Amino acid sequence: MIIKPKVRGFVCVTAHPAGCAAHVDEWISHVKSKGSIPNGPRKVLVIGASTGYGLASRITAAFGSGAGTLGIFYERPSEEVRTATPGWYNSVGFTRAARAAGLYAQNINGDAFSNEIKAQALEAIRRDMGQVDLVVYSLASPRRVHPGNGAVHKSALKPVGAPYTNKTVDTDKGVVSSVTIEPANEQEIADTIAVMGGEDWEMWINALADAGLLAPGAQSVAYSYIGPAVTWAIYKNGTIGLAKNDLERAARNIDSLLKLNGGGRAFISVNKALVTQASSAIPVVPLYISILYKIMKANGTHEGCIEQMQRMFSTQMYAPGGPGFDESGRVRVDNLEMRPEVQASVAKIWPEVTTENLAALTDIAGYRSEFLKLFGFGMAGVDYDAEAEPHVPMP
Ligand code: NAI
Repeated sequence: MIIKPKVRGFVCVTAHPAGCAAHVDEWISHVKSKGSIPNGPRKVLVIGASTGYGLASRITAAFGSGAGTLGIFYERPSEEVRTATPGWYNSVGFTRAARAAGLYAQNINGDAFSNEIKAQALEAIRRDMGQVDLVVYSLASPRRVHPGNGAVHKSALKPVGAPYTNKTVDTDKGVVSSVTIEPANEQEIADTIAVMGGEDWEMWINALADAGLLAPGAQSVAYSYIGPAVTWAIYKNGTIGLAKNDLERAARNIDSLLKLNGGGRAFISVNKALVTQASSAIPVVPLYISILYKIMKANGTHEGCIEQMQRMFSTQMYAPGGPGFDESGRVRVDNLEMRPEVQASVAKIWPEVTTENLAALTDIAGYRSEFLKLFGFGMAGVDYDAEAEPHVPMP
């Protein structure tokens, strides 16, 4: 089948197997180009391992420090006339590359929130790895079925307390418009915390600890975002921000537990705003990212997921003196994004952007090409007019 992008709003419903593999290879090359990470992780569990920051973490652990990895993700394999999701193809590409390099790489495709998938992961670790010394928690999900009572929680990306009006961009059509989002109700707030907060991360760590599968000194990390004032109503002070506060609460509990387990630690890394499947679904944020990319590319500080994670592992998590924390105990690899001069430029451009000047004032072209890359499109060296085999089994 000849596979072309089919973009529907903020998703692309097709993915290219060779393109996704090439994207993974590009990330592997970046990590290799940076050299090995001394004293890096050896045996790693990555929850949310198939795309975005989780995939970048997995690649950094494997190709930066020779770690064996168990990846958990929720992806759809190909069906008769339908391509698989990009995370499926990414994981195939990663697994092949890791095994070719002599590294342990195993995958579990299923709902990480469920008891069943946790049990499968514990079994795989016990059987193949013995113990893990790093747990990366990088889930971004729209819903969670609670394993305790079967309740279905759906996250809502909304402001809290008052309606919020701001500019947004339809990245597909290139139209800038004003959007008003009504505030979340109590139920939506609670549901978003249930999905994107820290309870499930704690369940994973407790299950691993109870089973004796955490190596002495094991670390764990989860990811958050803060960003500038222009996005606060929808992010930091919105439902997702409240969920991230709960993730920080969980980080403190897990940190206490890991400290007692041979002096390990848990922390939140605050990462840069980047084009991923998760971030493209948040109103306002894609316009901010388009402006941010323009400024950071111009001043030479732009990074993608892989540059962010390679830097986080090598200069923070596994730095000789340990990570440098902010006043709230978080690692900040959003430091370049949050530089005052970068944010001053964003604030200057923000009120000026219109549909007409979108291409000139923002890097909407870069946003779009990054977005297509998430699905394996636009990779150099891939012939998109050639027949491609969409049915690729997980190794
Ligand atoms: P993503 O959408 O690229 O990746 C999400 C991962 O979670 C995928 O591997 C997916 O298969 C997996 N997943 C989703 N539901 C699952 C389930 N029920 N069971 C098993 N796996 C499941 O997302 P992204 O952007 O990499 O986000 C990861 C973390 O990074 C999130 O906590 C997000 O808030 C955070 N973050 C993202 C930023 C961004 O700009 N994209 C910035 C800073 C933090």
